[in-house]
Amino acid sequence: MRVAERIDAAVTRAITAGQGGKAPGKLAAALEYAVTPGGARIRPTILTSVAMACGDDCPALTDAAGAALEVIHCASLVHDDLPCFDDADMRRGKPALHVAYSEPLAVLAGDSLIIMGFQILARAAAEQPSRAVQLIDILATRTGMPFGICAGQGWESEAQIDLSAYHQAKTGALFIAATQMGAVAAGQDPEPWGELGARIGEAFQVADDLRDALCDEATLGKPAGQDDLHGRPNAVAVLGVAGAIQRFDDILAGAISSIPACPGEAALAQMVRAYADKLVPAGARGRPTVPGE
Ligand code: IPE
Ligand code: IPE
Ligand code: MG
Ligand code: MG
Repeated sequence: MRVAERIDAAVTRAITAGQGGKAPGKLAAALEYAVTPGGARIRPTILTSVAMACGDDCPALTDAAGAALEVIHCASLVHDDLPCFDDADMRRGKPALHVAYSEPLAVLAGDSLIIMGFQILARAAAEQPSRAVQLIDILATRTGMPFGICAGQGWESEAQIDLSAYHQAKTGALFIAATQMGAVAAGQDPEPWGELGARIGEAFQVADDLRDALCDEATLGKPAGQDDLHGRPNAVAVLGVAGAIQRFDDILAGAISSIPACPGEAALAQMVRAYADKLVPAGARGRPTVPGE
Protein backbone atom coordinates (compact mmCIF):
# COMPACT_ATOMS: atom_id res chain seq x y z
CA MET A 1 0.00 0.00 0.00
CA ARG A 2 1.27 3.49 -0.80
CA VAL A 3 2.23 5.74 2.10
CA ALA A 4 -0.71 8.12 1.53
CA GLU A 5 -3.18 5.21 1.50
CA ARG A 6 -1.73 3.76 4.70
CA ILE A 7 -2.14 7.11 6.43
CA ASP A 8 -5.69 7.63 5.11
CA ALA A 9 -6.77 4.18 6.24
CA ALA A 10 -5.26 4.62 9.73
CA VAL A 11 -6.83 8.06 10.25
CA THR A 12 -10.23 6.81 9.03
CA ARG A 13 -10.07 3.83 11.42
CA ALA A 14 -9.36 6.18 14.33
CA ILE A 15 -12.17 8.60 13.51
CA THR A 16 -14.67 5.79 12.98
CA ALA A 17 -13.77 4.36 16.39
CA GLY A 18 -14.46 7.78 17.90
CA GLN A 19 -17.93 7.93 16.42
CA GLY A 20 -19.52 4.67 17.54
CA GLY A 21 -22.28 4.07 20.09
CA LYS A 22 -24.76 6.66 21.33
CA ALA A 23 -22.42 9.57 20.72
CA PRO A 24 -23.62 13.16 20.23
CA GLY A 25 -24.11 13.46 16.47
CA LYS A 26 -22.78 16.96 15.85
CA LEU A 27 -19.54 16.36 17.73
CA ALA A 28 -19.09 13.02 15.95
CA ALA A 29 -19.52 14.77 12.59
CA ALA A 30 -17.19 17.58 13.67
CA LEU A 31 -14.37 15.07 14.30
CA GLU A 32 -14.60 13.90 10.71
CA TYR A 33 -14.85 17.48 9.46
CA ALA A 34 -11.58 18.33 11.22
CA VAL A 35 -9.54 15.57 9.61
CA THR A 36 -11.13 14.95 6.20
CA PRO A 37 -10.36 15.75 3.53
CA GLY A 38 -6.90 16.03 5.02
CA GLY A 39 -4.34 18.69 4.29
CA ALA A 40 -0.87 17.74 3.07
CA ARG A 41 -0.51 15.10 5.82
CA ILE A 42 3.17 15.94 5.79
CA ARG A 43 3.85 14.93 9.41
CA PRO A 44 2.60 11.32 9.11
CA THR A 45 4.24 11.11 5.69
CA ILE A 46 7.61 11.99 7.23
CA LEU A 47 6.95 9.63 10.15
CA THR A 48 6.12 6.74 7.82
CA SER A 49 9.06 7.51 5.52
CA VAL A 50 11.49 7.48 8.45
CA ALA A 51 10.02 4.20 9.72
CA MET A 52 10.41 2.70 6.24
CA ALA A 53 13.98 3.97 6.01
CA CYS A 54 14.61 2.13 9.31
CA GLY A 55 13.05 -1.15 8.15
CA ASP A 56 9.40 -0.65 9.28
CA ASP A 57 9.30 -4.01 11.06
CA CYS A 58 5.98 -3.26 12.81
CA PRO A 59 3.81 -1.46 10.23
CA ALA A 60 0.68 -1.50 12.43
CA LEU A 61 2.54 0.56 15.04
CA THR A 62 3.88 2.92 12.37
CA ASP A 63 0.35 3.47 11.06
CA ALA A 64 -0.99 4.08 14.57
CA ALA A 65 1.81 6.57 15.25
CA GLY A 66 1.10 8.42 11.99
CA ALA A 67 -2.62 8.62 12.71
CA ALA A 68 -2.00 9.76 16.30
CA LEU A 69 0.30 12.53 15.11
CA GLU A 70 -2.09 13.68 12.39
CA VAL A 71 -5.20 13.86 14.59
CA ILE A 72 -3.27 15.95 17.12
CA HIS A 73 -2.07 18.25 14.34
CA CYS A 74 -5.69 18.61 13.15
CA ALA A 75 -6.79 19.38 16.71
CA SER A 76 -4.16 22.13 16.92
CA LEU A 77 -5.55 23.73 13.77
CA VAL A 78 -9.15 23.62 15.04
CA HIS A 79 -8.10 25.36 18.26
CA ASP A 80 -5.75 27.75 16.42
CA ASP A 81 -8.61 29.06 14.24
CA LEU A 82 -10.89 29.88 17.20
CA PRO A 83 -11.70 33.54 17.85
CA CYS A 84 -9.58 33.49 21.04
CA PHE A 85 -6.50 32.56 18.96
CA ASP A 86 -6.28 33.58 15.28
CA ASP A 87 -9.98 34.10 14.63
CA ALA A 88 -9.62 32.56 11.17
CA ASP A 89 -12.80 31.67 9.33
CA MET A 90 -11.35 29.37 6.69
CA ARG A 91 -9.18 26.25 6.80
CA ARG A 92 -8.26 23.88 3.96
CA GLY A 93 -10.59 25.72 1.61
CA LYS A 94 -13.71 25.30 3.74
CA PRO A 95 -15.23 27.15 6.70
CA ALA A 96 -13.21 26.72 9.90
CA LEU A 97 -14.78 24.20 12.25
CA HIS A 98 -16.13 26.79 14.70
CA VAL A 99 -17.83 28.58 11.77
CA ALA A 100 -19.32 25.38 10.33
CA TYR A 101 -20.41 24.02 13.74
CA SER A 102 -19.94 26.29 16.77
CA GLU A 103 -17.24 27.44 19.18
CA PRO A 104 -18.18 24.92 21.90
CA LEU A 105 -18.07 22.10 19.34
CA ALA A 106 -14.69 23.32 18.05
CA VAL A 107 -13.24 23.30 21.58
CA LEU A 108 -14.66 19.82 22.17
CA ALA A 109 -13.60 18.46 18.76
CA GLY A 110 -10.03 19.64 19.40
CA ASP A 111 -10.06 18.13 22.90
CA SER A 112 -11.49 14.85 21.61
CA LEU A 113 -8.86 14.58 18.85
CA ILE A 114 -6.00 15.21 21.27
CA ILE A 115 -7.28 12.47 23.56
CA MET A 116 -7.87 10.22 20.54
CA GLY A 117 -4.21 10.61 19.53
CA PHE A 118 -3.00 9.09 22.79
CA GLN A 119 -5.71 6.43 22.77
CA ILE A 120 -4.65 5.27 19.30
CA LEU A 121 -1.14 4.64 20.66
CA ALA A 122 -2.40 2.95 23.82
CA ARG A 123 -4.52 0.59 21.72
CA ALA A 124 -1.61 -0.21 19.43
CA ALA A 125 0.62 -1.14 22.36
CA ALA A 126 -0.13 -4.87 22.51
CA GLU A 127 2.53 -5.95 20.04
CA GLN A 128 5.37 -3.63 21.12
CA PRO A 129 4.51 -2.15 24.54
CA SER A 130 7.86 -0.49 25.18
CA ARG A 131 7.91 1.21 21.78
CA ALA A 132 4.32 2.40 22.36
CA VAL A 133 5.23 3.97 25.70
CA GLN A 134 8.13 5.81 24.03
CA LEU A 135 5.77 7.01 21.28
CA ILE A 136 3.31 8.34 23.86
CA ASP A 137 6.13 10.14 25.66
CA ILE A 138 7.47 11.78 22.49
CA LEU A 139 4.01 12.83 21.33
CA ALA A 140 3.20 14.29 24.76
CA THR A 141 6.52 16.15 24.90
CA ARG A 142 5.92 17.72 21.49
CA THR A 143 2.27 18.56 22.19
CA GLY A 144 2.33 20.06 25.70
CA MET A 145 4.56 22.23 27.88
CA PRO A 146 7.37 23.26 27.80
CA PHE A 147 8.46 22.06 24.34
CA GLY A 148 5.24 21.38 22.46
CA ILE A 149 2.47 23.14 20.56
CA CYS A 150 0.88 24.43 23.80
CA ALA A 151 4.14 26.22 24.58
CA GLY A 152 4.25 27.58 21.02
CA GLN A 153 0.75 29.00 21.23
CA GLY A 154 1.51 30.21 24.76
CA TRP A 155 4.30 32.48 23.45
CA GLU A 156 1.62 34.55 21.72
CA SER A 157 0.40 35.67 25.16
CA GLU A 158 3.84 36.98 26.21
CA ALA A 159 4.84 40.64 25.87
CA GLN A 160 8.22 39.62 24.41
CA ILE A 161 8.35 36.64 22.04
CA ASP A 162 11.49 34.51 21.86
CA LEU A 163 11.16 33.92 18.12
CA SER A 164 13.27 30.82 17.95
CA ALA A 165 11.57 29.14 20.94
CA TYR A 166 8.18 30.20 19.54
CA HIS A 167 8.79 28.67 16.11
CA GLN A 168 10.46 25.56 17.49
CA ALA A 169 7.51 24.85 19.75
CA LYS A 170 4.70 25.99 17.45
CA THR A 171 5.88 24.37 14.24
CA GLY A 172 9.09 22.44 14.83
CA ALA A 173 7.75 20.30 17.66
CA LEU A 174 5.47 18.10 15.55
CA PHE A 175 8.19 17.63 12.93
CA ILE A 176 10.59 16.43 15.63
CA ALA A 177 7.80 14.15 16.80
CA ALA A 178 7.40 12.90 13.21
CA THR A 179 11.03 11.85 12.71
CA GLN A 180 11.51 10.50 16.24
CA MET A 181 8.23 8.58 16.27
CA GLY A 182 9.06 7.07 12.88
CA ALA A 183 12.35 5.81 14.26
CA VAL A 184 10.79 4.46 17.47
CA ALA A 185 7.95 2.72 15.58
CA ALA A 186 10.67 0.80 13.72
CA GLY A 187 12.56 -0.01 16.91
CA GLN A 188 15.34 2.57 16.58
CA ASP A 189 16.80 5.13 18.99
CA PRO A 190 14.92 8.44 18.53
CA GLU A 191 17.81 10.71 19.55
CA PRO A 192 19.77 10.85 16.26
CA TRP A 193 16.53 11.65 14.42
CA GLY A 194 15.67 14.82 16.34
CA GLU A 195 17.89 17.08 14.25
CA LEU A 196 16.26 16.09 10.96
CA GLY A 197 12.82 16.89 12.37
CA ALA A 198 13.97 20.21 13.82
CA ARG A 199 15.52 21.26 10.50
CA ILE A 200 12.52 20.21 8.44
CA GLY A 201 10.34 22.16 10.88
CA GLU A 202 12.52 25.25 10.49
CA ALA A 203 12.40 25.01 6.69
CA PHE A 204 8.64 24.46 6.83
CA GLN A 205 8.21 27.60 8.93
CA VAL A 206 10.20 29.72 6.43
CA ALA A 207 8.14 28.30 3.55
CA ASP A 208 4.94 28.98 5.51
CA ASP A 209 6.03 32.60 5.98
CA LEU A 210 6.67 32.86 2.22
CA ARG A 211 3.27 31.39 1.39
CA ASP A 212 1.56 33.66 3.91
CA ALA A 213 3.20 36.72 2.32
CA LEU A 214 2.93 35.76 -1.35
CA CYS A 215 -0.17 33.61 -1.86
CA ASP A 216 -3.83 34.56 -1.76
CA GLU A 217 -6.57 32.98 0.33
CA ALA A 218 -7.89 30.90 -2.60
CA THR A 219 -4.46 29.31 -3.14
CA LEU A 220 -3.79 28.74 0.56
CA GLY A 221 -7.29 27.58 1.49
CA LYS A 222 -6.92 29.70 4.65
CA PRO A 223 -6.59 33.44 5.30
CA ALA A 224 -3.41 34.99 3.81
CA GLY A 225 -1.29 37.86 5.15
CA GLN A 226 -1.80 36.71 8.74
CA ASP A 227 1.75 37.40 9.93
CA ASP A 228 1.50 41.07 9.00
CA LEU A 229 -2.05 41.31 10.28
CA HIS A 230 -1.11 39.95 13.71
CA GLY A 231 2.25 41.78 13.72
CA ARG A 232 4.12 38.47 14.03
CA PRO A 233 7.81 38.38 13.27
CA ASN A 234 8.44 36.24 10.19
CA ALA A 235 11.20 35.28 7.76
CA VAL A 236 9.94 37.46 4.88
CA ALA A 237 9.75 40.57 7.04
CA VAL A 238 13.28 39.96 8.35
CA LEU A 239 15.05 38.66 5.21
CA GLY A 240 12.88 39.70 2.23
CA VAL A 241 11.61 37.15 -0.27
CA ALA A 242 14.95 36.27 -1.88
CA GLY A 243 16.65 36.06 1.53
CA ALA A 244 13.91 33.81 2.87
CA ILE A 245 14.27 31.48 -0.12
CA GLN A 246 18.04 31.33 0.38
CA ARG A 247 17.44 30.55 4.05
CA PHE A 248 14.99 27.80 3.08
CA ASP A 249 17.55 26.23 0.72
CA ASP A 250 20.31 26.39 3.37
CA ILE A 251 18.15 24.80 6.06
CA LEU A 252 17.05 22.09 3.63
CA ALA A 253 20.63 21.20 2.72
CA GLY A 254 21.40 20.90 6.45
CA ALA A 255 18.30 18.75 6.94
CA ILE A 256 19.34 16.30 4.26
CA SER A 257 22.89 16.02 5.51
CA SER A 258 21.59 15.34 9.04
CA ILE A 259 19.76 12.14 8.02
CA PRO A 260 21.26 9.38 10.18
CA ALA A 261 22.83 6.41 8.43
CA CYS A 262 20.10 3.83 7.79
CA PRO A 263 19.16 1.34 5.06
CA GLY A 264 16.74 3.76 3.35
CA GLU A 265 18.84 6.92 3.67
CA ALA A 266 18.90 7.77 -0.06
CA ALA A 267 15.17 7.24 -0.58
CA LEU A 268 14.42 9.38 2.47
CA ALA A 269 16.64 12.21 1.19
CA GLN A 270 14.80 12.05 -2.12
CA MET A 271 11.42 12.21 -0.39
CA VAL A 272 12.47 15.27 1.66
CA ARG A 273 13.75 17.03 -1.50
CA ALA A 274 10.60 16.23 -3.47
CA TYR A 275 8.36 17.53 -0.70
CA ALA A 276 10.45 20.67 -0.23
CA ASP A 277 10.02 21.55 -3.91
CA LYS A 278 6.27 21.78 -3.32
CA LEU A 279 6.60 24.03 -0.27
CA VAL A 280 7.96 27.21 -1.84
CA PRO A 281 5.18 29.04 -3.70
CA ALA A 282 5.34 28.80 -7.50
CA GLY A 283 6.94 31.94 -8.94
CA ALA A 284 8.61 32.97 -5.67
CA ARG A 285 12.09 32.11 -6.88
CA GLY A 286 13.64 34.99 -8.81
CA ARG A 287 11.17 37.45 -7.34
CA PRO A 288 13.15 39.93 -5.23
CA THR A 289 10.53 41.54 -3.00
CA VAL A 290 7.03 41.14 -1.65
CA PRO A 291 4.41 43.21 -3.48
CA GLY A 292 4.31 46.71 -2.05
CA GLU A 293 7.65 46.31 -0.26
C1 IPE B 1 -0.35 24.34 9.07
O1 IPE B 1 0.26 23.11 8.80
C2 IPE B 1 0.06 24.81 10.43
C3 IPE B 1 1.43 25.29 10.54
C4 IPE B 1 2.26 24.78 11.39
C5 IPE B 1 1.87 26.42 9.74
P1 IPE B 1 0.07 22.36 7.40
O2 IPE B 1 0.40 23.32 6.29
O3 IPE B 1 0.83 21.09 7.43
O4 IPE B 1 -1.48 22.09 7.39
P2 IPE B 1 -2.35 21.02 6.61
O5 IPE B 1 -2.52 19.86 7.52
O6 IPE B 1 -1.62 20.65 5.34
O7 IPE B 1 -3.66 21.71 6.33
C1 IPE C 1 -0.66 27.11 13.55
O1 IPE C 1 0.15 28.17 13.41
C2 IPE C 1 0.17 26.05 14.21
C3 IPE C 1 -0.44 25.49 15.39
C4 IPE C 1 -1.70 25.32 15.56
C5 IPE C 1 0.44 25.10 16.44
P1 IPE C 1 -0.33 29.38 12.50
O2 IPE C 1 -1.47 30.09 13.12
O3 IPE C 1 0.87 30.20 12.21
O4 IPE C 1 -0.72 28.61 11.17
P2 IPE C 1 -1.95 28.78 10.18
O5 IPE C 1 -1.56 29.86 9.22
O6 IPE C 1 -3.16 29.15 10.96
O7 IPE C 1 -2.07 27.44 9.50
MG1 MG D 1 -1.78 30.69 15.11
MG1 MG E 1 -3.46 30.36 12.48
